[in-house]
Amino acid sequence: MEQNQIQTYLNSNKERFLNELLDLLKIPSISAKPEHKSDMNKTAEAIKQRLIEAGADKVEICPTKGYPVVYGEKIIDPSKPTVVVYGHYDVQPADPLDLWDSPPFEPVIKKTEVHPEGAIFARGACDDKGQMYMHVKAFETMMKTNTLPCNVKFMIEGEEEVGSPSLGPWIIENKEKLKGDIILISDTSIIANDIPSIDSGLRGLAYMEVEVTGPNRDLHSGVYGGAVANPINILCKMIASCHDENNHITVPGFYDKVQELSAEERAEMAKAPFNLEEYKKDLDINEERGEKGYSTNERTGIRPTLDVNGIWGGYTGEGAKTVLPSKAFAKISMRLVPNQSSKEISDLFAKHFESIAPKSVKVKVTAHHGGEPVVVPITSKGFQAASKAMEETYGKKPVPTRSGGSIPIVALFKKELGMDSILFGFGLDSDALHSPNEHYGIFNYYKGIETIPLFYKYFTA
Ligand code: BES
Ligand code: MN
Ligand code: MN
Repeated sequence: MEQNQIQTYLNSNKERFLNELLDLLKIPSISAKPEHKSDMNKTAEAIKQRLIEAGADKVEICPTKGYPVVYGEKIIDPSKPTVVVYGHYDVQPADPLDLWDSPPFEPVIKKTEVHPEGAIFARGACDDKGQMYMHVKAFETMMKTNTLPCNVKFMIEGEEEVGSPSLGPWIIENKEKLKGDIILISDTSIIANDIPSIDSGLRGLAYMEVEVTGPNRDLHSGVYGGAVANPINILCKMIASCHDENNHITVPGFYDKVQELSAEERAEMAKAPFNLEEYKKDLDINEERGEKGYSTNERTGIRPTLDVNGIWGGYTGEGAKTVLPSKAFAKISMRLVPNQSSKEISDLFAKHFESIAPKSVKVKVTAHHGGEPVVVPITSKGFQAASKAMEETYGKKPVPTRSGGSIPIVALFKKELGMDSILFGFGLDSDALHSPNEHYGIFNYYKGIETIPLFYKYFTA
């Protein structure tokens, strides 16, 4: 009955729900680039307005050391459970711009093979404006149909894509305000539009930058080449040595604390549908590659990794310049799994990288932001409520999965606020998050708005 009312309200407001999201996507809220500061504030202001219109109370833009958090709440009865919704309004930089088929902040709707009903193409469409905004519209729908069964608090931040440096201190200062029973987040993916799934874990992250210095200045590569260490050649060798022939990571101590899964747990994981041929086709690769002894899903879900995110130095401009560069740089990230600590792994990496440098160069290693891995117990009330909600709207039980991505603040929600997080994502891994032509299925957007109220219902029951 209630779901009928919700469906009716959703059906008669579909177009507006979509247009409001398109408007939000037009603001380039790129947290990594200081020149977008006013766009960040504009986005926070827009979300504040939308929360007020949807029926939230005490809506405010809370200043932090960095970009503000948008907060709002609806307390219907203090004796009822409280759902705390988390999302982020910041997006990744859109570069490289020339690889976009349409401008990243001028959303357009196009049909694709995976999204025959159409998808919204824009930076942030899926990660995370589209998924975050589903919660605002689901809330509006519950308010307008008188079906909100419990209390709700919104916490929408603007620094997720840069590691949430200000949110940690902010939640510690606002523990009372954020009191609740569960954190609800839509910022992950499902397996496919006809295969719902819920992540029961996220990987952690240690992010490093390395600088290798050879001679004190750029040199003529003919005059000096062959006699002086080339820092780019050396850096490449050092990076290559971080994996062995089985693609195991060679940093001493790296695997010491890694939680190994039992044969039963791995057998359970292997039940998740996975189509390797489609995976390869989507990425246009001839073969997958990864740590020996593990499946593709295990490699991204339960195993730690080490990847170069960027490497630079020397001459990269047009044409050829013969130069033996003075310096080479790389950004290297490691995805972590339960029991690994971001700080410990950063330290192990730094020590190792310094130790393998030949005498002919100097090496400097610095750590950027990090985050701890998390697991969500699938037997918990929250996970079960999410599972029932999806089962109802998709017509099949969602598969428990482990996500390869990271949301660094989630571990702190548990540690500082004592709450588990439900990773109630509706996007697809193939939606090109962080890539050119990011998109979000219209089917996924509406499905999320339809499913979220059922989470509230089953969590409150
Ligand atoms: N929403 C993603 C994380 C994600 C994506 C999880 C897909 C599962 C599936 C989030 O916005 C993100 O990109 N996180 C960063 C962390 C970072 C910038 C500190 C990541 O995982 O690289
Ligand atoms: Mn995200
Ligand atoms: Mn992201």
